[in-house]
Amino acid sequence: MSFSDAVAVARRDFADRNPASKLHYDEARKYMPGGHTRTVLTHAPFPLAFASGHGATLIDVDGHEYVDLLGDYTAGLLGHSETRVLNKVKVALDNNVSVGGIHPAEATLARLMCERFDIDRVRFTNSGTEANLMAIATAMMATKRTKILAFMGGYHGGVLYFVSGVAPWNSPYDVVLAPYNDAEGTERVIAEHGESLAAVIVEPMLGSGGCVPADAEFIRRTFAAARAVGAVVIADQVMTSRHGRRGMLDLLGSVADITTYGKYIGGGFSFGAFGGRAELLDQFDTSVETGRVAKGEMVISHAGTFNNNMASITAGCAVLGEVFTADVAEAHTARGDEFRSMVAGVLAKHDLPMSVTGFGSMMSLHASAEPPADILGVAHRDNDLQELIFLGLLQRGVYTAARGMMNLGLAHTDDQLSRALDALDDTLRAIAQK
Ligand SMILES: Cc1ncc(COP(=O)(O)O)c(C=O)c1O
Repeated sequence: MSFSDAVAVARRDFADRNPASKLHYDEARKYMPGGHTRTVLTHAPFPLAFASGHGATLIDVDGHEYVDLLGDYTAGLLGHSETRVLNKVKVALDNNVSVGGIHPAEATLARLMCERFDIDRVRFTNSGTEANLMAIATAMMATKRTKILAFMGGYHGGVLYFVSGVAPWNSPYDVVLAPYNDAEGTERVIAEHGESLAAVIVEPMLGSGGCVPADAEFIRRTFAAARAVGAVVIADQVMTSRHGRRGMLDLLGSVADITTYGKYIGGGFSFGAFGGRAELLDQFDTSVETGRVAKGEMVISHAGTFNNNMASITAGCAVLGEVFTADVAEAHTARGDEFRSMVAGVLAKHDLPMSVTGFGSMMSLHASAEPPADILGVAHRDNDLQELIFLGLLQRGVYTAARGMMNLGLAHTDDQLSRALDALDDTLRAIAQK
């Protein structure tokens, strides 16, 4: 049977196994286009609807249990019931849900972030998208320039989408694209646009673009070239700040001018932040002490009703202060590397064009023999085989991203991870036999 015939069968099996999810989908489509409000969560023939989760386990509305290997695209690092975070949030919310004023936890989280990630100043937002929009605004104001360099395959939010070129729905920035992991090509683009560039924005690993890690030399040369023309270097670590003690960029040996954060730091609540060098961030400084306003200097206004919302800020304090400390982060990165090599070991047992890429606890399966080094490599995957693996894993009780992403969380037990590896092995065997 061809892979595409096998996909048709697998979709039918999936539909037969999940009648309650289908009912939910049909109802949801009446009110939400496509039946969802997060494009990334949907897939053919329809997405599962989940009823509950605990630890690293998810239960869908048909009662099936899954090892959650998606971890909410890295936002669910802690698992579904991290009581140290939830208890703190419950106490805080009992006290005051919507303050409409400053509360002490904000500065606590700011201190935790500055100390942990070695940045001078930080500001909070509601999402990673917003953090990147604000980081770009900060760079544009500092440089008095408007052009932004992003990378092919990059993803910085719903309106900063470069996974397949510059998306036509993006925010209307003047954007030039450079090739990821190609230092020479990037230096050429930077030289071409030179002093019109306000910022270069880059992920230390393409996340949505297929867990393709950056080469350290590519990052080093890109940053040097950007700085040589006076552009601000923005590192989007919305996903990758989980790696190592200070985030992945630190492990690659480089430092950005502004870094953006999000996902797991909010402990499951909406979160974003941007931080970095004082002279850039202090454009937001309204204080009487520095007197920027009195001196008539431009001060960037950054309001945002939920920037300091009680749930996210309190959760963030517990996440960075207690649960995901630098020591835990370092050990988790090593555990992720180990798991990824076990995944590679399973793939090697089967005669199928498959590879795995990633860094630390984030990884992606690819239906291509060669591990992709950029988005063009990802685009060459066999989409039918990719879907067969996704549906095969679901059938065997393992939840991953349809595009192949898998993220190790703190709640995964060794037993769950070995069940996931067995499921992958069994899925590949079944596909190869068809
Ligand atoms: C690297 C990166 N930047 C930014 C974002 C956007 O974050 P959010 O979904 O919180 O807006 C994401 C989300 O997946 C991301 O992976």
